[in-house]
Amino acid sequence: MKKQIEKIRSAAEKEIQKAQNSQAIENLRIKYLGRKGKLTRLIRKISQIPQDRRQEIGLSVNETKKKIQLALIKQTQITKRKRKAKIAWVDTTAPGQLPLVGHLHPTTLAFREIWPLFEKLGFTLVSYPEVEWEQLAFEALNMPTDHPARDDFETFFLNTKPNPKWGRMVLTPHTSSGQIREMRRVGPPIRMINIAKCYRPNWDNTHTPMFHQFEGLVVDKNINLTHLKGIFDYFAKNFYGPERKIRLRPSHFQFTEPSFEVDINCPLCRGKGCRVCNSGWHELGGAGMVHPQVLKNGGVNPKRYSGFAFGWGVERTYMMKSNLKLNDIRILYENDLRFVEQF
Ligand code: DAH
Repeated sequence: MKKQIEKIRSAAEKEIQKAQNSQAIENLRIKYLGRKGKLTRLIRKISQIPQDRRQEIGLSVNETKKKIQLALIKQTQITKRKRKAKIAWVDTTAPGQLPLVGHLHPTTLAFREIWPLFEKLGFTLVSYPEVEWEQLAFEALNMPTDHPARDDFETFFLNTKPNPKWGRMVLTPHTSSGQIREMRRVGPPIRMINIAKCYRPNWDNTHTPMFHQFEGLVVDKNINLTHLKGIFDYFAKNFYGPERKIRLRPSHFQFTEPSFEVDINCPLCRGKGCRVCNSGWHELGGAGMVHPQVLKNGGVNPKRYSGFAFGWGVERTYMMKSNLKLNDIRILYENDLRFVEQF
């Protein structure tokens, strides 16, 4: 029996030393000292031992029990200490971890580059509402309800009661309604840049239902086409680089007369035509001399004043700067950090 006790003790101590957590330690306590534990079972047999050896065996069992208990306590302390050390230990010599630092979205970067160029020329920055009256978005810009030009402006309508004077409410389909708002708000002379969100129900690789435009409006005495051309040249050279040029192509808009599409020469072939641009030119957006009726609608006398206006996409204008050909512009608003981080 003494041999048995000794075997149990040494096995128990070895196992306990290997236990790595409180659950493992508790399992060993049960295994050896529990009601059906190995040592407990031996203790029960003591009564069967002849009287003369009983005391000796009894003492030995008790001692073993104490030793196992002690080993359990010790191991509990060791595992606790190890756990604490794991949490609290800091290696002050290890190289630091760079915190994740965010940065501005490309569209915001675009705002911040476009706007100061006009600020230098004395333009006022405004940002007119994302929700607009149909009257200002269309009628005041020479686009009555049944005019076919309005088909190009597929529009989100708000589910509200039409106002007898202002019509229905729409999500601003273009920044041009800002022209009317600014004319009515301040009157001439006007130099305005309206940068705002626009909405149209399109979703494909060249359109997102929400996008941004910047709209310029200059109204003063004797404003003519040369002013318009001069401002665009200034913008092209300062935003895109000294080698860049713009070109005007005749076009049609209801709210300008004459109207133009504004192109910028391709940075690769400088207008000769290459595989990237085909024609040598990239389209920036629309522009023109403000239609006399639109001036009137803004409360400005077209006999005394004239003006020009332009409305370009912020995203497009910016993408053309980095000469980045996105084959799907929706990626701008998909929150994919792998893309956004590149700016
Ligand atoms: N509002 C037009 C659009 O969204 C763009 C535009 C064209 C704005 C000509 C203008 C302009 O100010 O003169 O397609």
